[in-house]
Order: sequence, then C-alpha cells, then structure tokens
Amino acid sequence: MITEVRVLRLYIIGAGVIGRTHAEAANKLSEPIKLRVADTNPIALATFCHQFPEAIGFTDIEKMLNSEAAEDDDIVIVSTPPLAHLDPTKLSLKSGRHVLCEKPLAMNISQAQEMTLLAEKHDRLLGCCSVRFKGMPHMEAVKEVIRSGILGDIYHVTFVNKWERSRSGIEYQPTSRWFLDSTKSGGGVLMDWGPYDFATLNDILNPNVIDINSAWVAKPVTEIDPSDTPFDVETHVGASMTYICGNHPVHVHYERASCAHGEEYVRAEIEGTLGAVRWTPFDSRQPVFRRYDKQGQIVEENVETGPRSEFTIFDNPLLHFYKKVRRLNSHANVNQQVLNNFHCISSLYTAAKKNEKQTINLVQKGVMI
Ligand SMILES: NC(=O)c1ccc[n+]([C@@H]2O[C@H](COP(=O)([O-])OP(=O)(O)OC[C@H]3O[C@@H](n4cnc5c(N)ncnc54)[C@H](O)[C@@H]3O)[C@@H](O)[C@H]2O)c1
Repeated sequence: MITEVRVLRLYIIGAGVIGRTHAEAANKLSEPIKLRVADTNPIALATFCHQFPEAIGFTDIEKMLNSEAAEDDDIVIVSTPPLAHLDPTKLSLKSGRHVLCEKPLAMNISQAQEMTLLAEKHDRLLGCCSVRFKGMPHMEAVKEVIRSGILGDIYHVTFVNKWERSRSGIEYQPTSRWFLDSTKSGGGVLMDWGPYDFATLNDILNPNVIDINSAWVAKPVTEIDPSDTPFDVETHVGASMTYICGNHPVHVHYERASCAHGEEYVRAEIEGTLGAVRWTPFDSRQPVFRRYDKQGQIVEENVETGPRSEFTIFDNPLLHFYKKVRRLNSHANVNQQVLNNFHCISSLYTAAKKNEKQTINLVQKGVMI
C-alpha cells in the first residue's frame, strides 16, 4: 500500500529578517515543506534564496500566488513592514489560502477589521505572529497557578517592560529605518511590542471586557536621534486598565519602553488576596515565583515549569498556526481573537490621544468603530 506523504506549501511574503526566521522554523515542522517567497526588493530576495536554495523566488506577489492553484491547507506568511500587511493579506485570502500575518496585524483598526471580515468571507484562518510566547512552559505555569485558585481573589497586575535603549530602527536592527516612521510602522513601541503584551495578558487573564481608564505615549529624546529619516513614533507608553474577568475587576498597571531616561525595570506580577505570582514573560528561561503568607511572614517558592520543547519563541508563530490549519490542539490566535488583541492596541492609542476612557468588549463579535 502506498501512503501519501503530506507536504506543506508555504508562501512567504517579505524576505527580510523575520521572513528568514519563519523559513528556519518551517524546516523544524514534522512534514516536508515546499517553499515559495516573494519580495519586491531583488537583493532581499537573492539573500533569502541563497540561504534557502530550495525556495522558488518571485518579485511579484500576485505572480507567486497565481503560479499554482490553491490547496486547502496552503499557508501564506506576511512578513513585510506593517504598511504592507493589508494588501498582501487580502490577495492571499482571496487566493484561497490561510494567512499568518506578522505583528502588528495592521496599521489601524479599520484595516484589521477588513482583514478579519475577508478571512471569514473566504472561510480561511487569519493568524497573527504575536503568539510567540503562548504555550511556553513559564506561561503555562503561571496560568496553572491562576487556575488552581491558590492566589485567592486576583485584584492587581503589574506588567512593565521598560528598557533604556532598545529602539527598533536605532539600537536594534538599525538598517530597518521604517520602524521609526509612523506612516510605515503604524506607531512605535506599542505597535512593535504591544501585540506580544496583549496576546500574553489576554491569554493569562482571559477577560471579557477591558477598560483602558487612562493612557499616555512619550518619545524621550537622545543625542543620537536620527535626523536623516522620519522619526515620529513613541518609544515609551503606559496605561491604567481594568480587566473584567467574569464579573471580577483586575487592575492592570501597564508600561512598555524601548527608550527611557528612568531606570530599566522589568516586572510581571499578579497579586491576589492569598498570594502572588511573578515571572519574566519575555525571557522563558527565568524562573516563576510564588509568594504567600506563612505565620505572618512572606514565603517565596519556585513554581515548577514543564519541560522545554525543541521549539523556541521564534518557531512558535508558525508552529501554532500550522497546528491550527492541521486541526490539532494549538495556541494560535485566529480571526476574532486577532482582531480583539489589535483592538486593545488601537484603543490604547485612542485613550492616549483623546484623554478618554476606552472600553473593549472581547466577547462581542466585530468591532464598533
Ligand atoms: N525583526 C524582528 O526581530 C521582528 C520580530 C518579530 C516581528 N517582526 C515583524 O516582521 C515584519 C517585518 O519585519 P522585518 O524585521 O523582517 O523587516 P525587514 O526590514 O528586515 O524586512 C522587510 C522585507 O519586506 C519587503 N517588502 C516591503 N514591502 C513589500 C511588499 N509590498 N511586497 C513584498 N515585499 C515587501 C522588504 O523588501 C524587506 O525585504 C514587521 O511587521 C515586524 O514588526 C520583526
């Protein structure tokens, strides 16, 4: 008897830094890959094809998508800068393929809504790469602590990642200047890191409503700020939010910075009436701690985390989405979920801009805009 070998057809749009990372992740999946790649920049395309000689390269997205008829489980990864997420996603969905889009999903909420509506219309999955940290052992350990009830009533979360000098386009990946230009990136550190923050917070707390009570954005100045390229994005952002989980309010202090004059400070901590849990969301090798009271004294213990898998945070977006497409248990966020998470980011900008509270209903389908 001849058994058919399944082959995953993967189409990467955008052959830059993260496009190449996804191609590496693809080679770790448990089935053979047929790889196609499109980039409008012939140099980027040539670099990619040199690293992955098995790939067929195109400088035209439509030519790539039309080069063969779509099959039910084809996956397109859109790994271009945010300005170029909408059109390639629309073309790919219309071609009958599932789409995994890099973060941030879109430039604004109306684009995000257009993308999710189109995915629904074509009965395709639309995922977002903001799930890098979902399913990691440290995250699952924190979720298990919450589920067990040993923290009592959860009332407060601190979620702060304040780095002194880590601006994309300056200290990090300085050749990709588009990060600094809001007409190409959609925004600064909130667009860049907020997708991971909200994918993480929403996964752990599972709210039905989020109130962004107040928010602010800032752009601390440094002596090496570039003047030869547009640089108009925020590098420090914060919000006071109330997550309604069931009927229960949880107060969230949120902050994220890629440049700050204040001291570097990284803390994720969930506090309840019977204890607290503390972890490092973006460094999965750091321990998870539980603190509670014994005879009036604080006790701090390490929480057991499960074994690490061969897959890293760089593999997770594709791994999770591939499992979802193959109808396996998966940590992927798709369709309404990716819209909800993007809505958190766009509402935070609105709250900061208008100095007005914003409410996000995560249960309700669609987004009122
Ligand atoms: N670099 C990272 O560490 C990183 C990590 C996670 C997510 N991301 C996200 O991945 C996306 C891409 O980032 P990057 O760092 O790989 O950028 P990059 O600058 O390294 O590469 C982007 C590539 O997209 C190509 N491109 C631009 N417009 C195109 C179009 N219309 N059609 C086809 N190709 C086009 C460019 O030629 C370039 O090769 C962004 O949304 C970013 O936020 C980046």
